[in-house]
Amino acid sequence: MTAIEVLDLRDDELRLRPPLQRDIPRITAICQDAEVQRWTRVPSPYREEDARAFVRLAAEALESGRGAPLVVVRDDDVVLAATGLRIDRRDLSGQVGYWVAPEARRQGIAVRSTRRLLRWAFEELSLAYVELVAAAENPGSNAVARALGFTLEGVAAEAMLLRFDDGTERRGDVNRYGIRPRELT
Ligand SMILES: CC(C)(COP(=O)(O)OP(=O)(O)OC[C@H]1O[C@@H](n2cnc3c(N)ncnc32)[C@H](O)[C@@H]1OP(=O)(O)O)[C@@H](O)C(=O)NCCC(=O)NCCS
Repeated sequence: MTAIEVLDLRDDELRLRPPLQRDIPRITAICQDAEVQRWTRVPSPYREEDARAFVRLAAEALESGRGAPLVVVRDDDVVLAATGLRIDRRDLSGQVGYWVAPEARRQGIAVRSTRRLLRWAFEELSLAYVELVAAAENPGSNAVARALGFTLEGVAAEAMLLRFDDGTERRGDVNRYGIRPRELT
C-alpha cells in the first residue's frame, strides 16, 4: 500500500490537516456533543483516550494508505470540524464521514471541507466512487450530501440505533448515498 503524504489541503481560510496530539482536548470536547453522539459512530461515552486513539489511527491510516481522517482549522489552528475518508485501493472507492463543532455549524464548513477532501481523493488518488451513509432523520447530514452532489442510492431500513436526549433509544433508517467524480458540485 502506498502511504499518503502528510496532507495539507486548503479552501480559502479553511485548512484540512491530519489530527495531532495537541488537538486531543478539543476533539474530546466536541465529541461530547449530543448530535455528534447521536448521528456519528464515535465511541459513547467519548473519553480523552478515544481522541488519542483517533489521532494514532489517523496517522496509521495515512501511513498505510487506507484512509485520510483530517481535521479542519482556520488560521488559529483550533479544530472546527473533522472530515475523513476510508479508502479501498482495490476498488478505488471510499467512504466519507464528518462532524462540525456545534458553534461552527451552518457556516458551510461541512460542505466546503468535504468538497475539498473529495476533490483531492478524485484527482490525486483516482477514486472513482465514494459512499456516504446518513441517518434518514439527520437533516444536516442529508443536506450536506445533496449540496455536494451525492445521489441517494438506497435506504437501509432500521439499520441504525438512535439515542435521544431523554435516554430513549429506537432504530432508524439509514440513507446510502454515492458520488462519482463527475457529480461533485
Ligand atoms: C451535519 C453537520 C456535519 C452539518 O455541518 P455544517 O457545517 O453545519 O453544514 P453546512 O453549513 O456545510 O451546511 C450544508 C447544508 O446543510 C444545511 N444544514 C446544515 N445543518 C442543518 C440542519 N440541522 N437542518 C437542516 N439543514 C441543515 C445547510 O443549510 C446547508 O444547506 P444549503 O447548502 O442548502 O444552504 C453538523 O450539523 C454536525 O456535525 N452534526 C452532528 C454530526 C453529524 O451529523 N455528522 C454526520 C453524520 S452522517
